[in-house]
Amino acid sequence: MGLEVGRQLAEKGANVVIVARDSDKLRHAIEYIKQGALNPSTQRFHYISADLASAPESVRIVDEVVSWNAGNPPDTVWCCAGSSYPTLFIDTPVSKFQAQMDSNYFTSAYMAHAALTSWLKPLEAQKSDVDDGIHNTPTARVIAPPGTRHIIFTASFLAFYSFAGYSPYSPTKAALRALSDTLSQEMNLYAAAHPNSPRVRVHTIFPATILTEGYEAENRIKHSMTKMLEEDDEGQTPQVIATKSIQALEGGQELITTDMLTGLVKGSMLGGSLRGGFGRVIMSWFLAGLMGIVMVFVRADMDRKCRVWGRKFGVSGVKRDNN
Ligand SMILES: NC(=O)c1ccc[n+]([C@@H]2O[C@H](COP(=O)([O-])OP(=O)(O)OC[C@H]3O[C@@H](n4cnc5c(N)ncnc54)[C@H](OP(=O)(O)O)[C@@H]3O)[C@@H](O)[C@H]2O)c1
Repeated sequence: MGLEVGRQLAEKGANVVIVARDSDKLRHAIEYIKQGALNPSTQRFHYISADLASAPESVRIVDEVVSWNAGNPPDTVWCCAGSSYPTLFIDTPVSKFQAQMDSNYFTSAYMAHAALTSWLKPLEAQKSDVDDGIHNTPTARVIAPPGTRHIIFTASFLAFYSFAGYSPYSPTKAALRALSDTLSQEMNLYAAAHPNSPRVRVHTIFPATILTEGYEAENRIKHSMTKMLEEDDEGQTPQVIATKSIQALEGGQELITTDMLTGLVKGSMLGGSLRGGFGRVIMSWFLAGLMGIVMVFVRADMDRKCRVWGRKFGVSGVKRDNN
């Protein structure tokens, strides 16, 4: 997914830096992204090999990007790294719970921490724009229209609705959603105190199945019952996910779904999350009522399917192959 996001942002004219651990894969990936450049003579591309599960590495990445970018921090940081280890809870080696949290939550939390620190810490040293007095009058205007910076997390459908076989993974993505909601609220503080500085917006993408290498890898260990429960999800290509995500970001959305089912389930799960305008409030209120009823039946049906599977194949996961 990250590869396609990089490519499509290059096609829109962005300078792009990508991060992963495997340098060989990065070399090929950056060539692919470069080939899509809108203005090949002026756009710049770079890759950094790093393990994002390490907090100091995220700081190093931001420092490297800032010096590569003539002293300017990146405008947009899109956290895509992650992996799924979908096994039944008691079949999961306990070390995997920590590893999944590292891979899915901490990679994003550390990266966001490093990026937000580079964007926002310098503001603390400055006098608040509000202290100037110029923003305390009804006619106060922002002196120069600020640009906007973006942190984008990549969660999952499973952050809204988890089911059997995803205990190591779903909590990590639900945690990401909670982080996203919290940070999005905190950003109001900085925007209000420094209206002349670039505003920071926080977004999260909630894909369902993406047909990627990562998906192939998780399917090799996935319990057959879990495969049965999600068999109606045909998946989307990373190209489609990237296109829909970017379109929604350009439309200013905060919590972004890329397929209809996830959009409906999100409508029933928003709580205090930002809904993005009066029209969307009405729509999510309507969907919440509708989905409140639908989800009762969805849950009952999936519970029944698990019991049928247990009676048929036992708890030992007899059908752990790809059949
Ligand atoms: N595939 C799905 O069905 C699906 C559905 C919903 C959500 N998602 C989420 O969408 C995101 C992308 O998924 P995907 O299917 O595109 O995954 P993928 O094909 O496995 O690609 C993941 C990328 O992240 C990098 N990465 C993983 N851990 C890293 C780490 N600790 N440090 C640095 N780089 C790391 C990997 O490169 P290296 O291994 O070289 O580091 C790889 O380039 C993930 O967050 C995933 O949880 C996926």
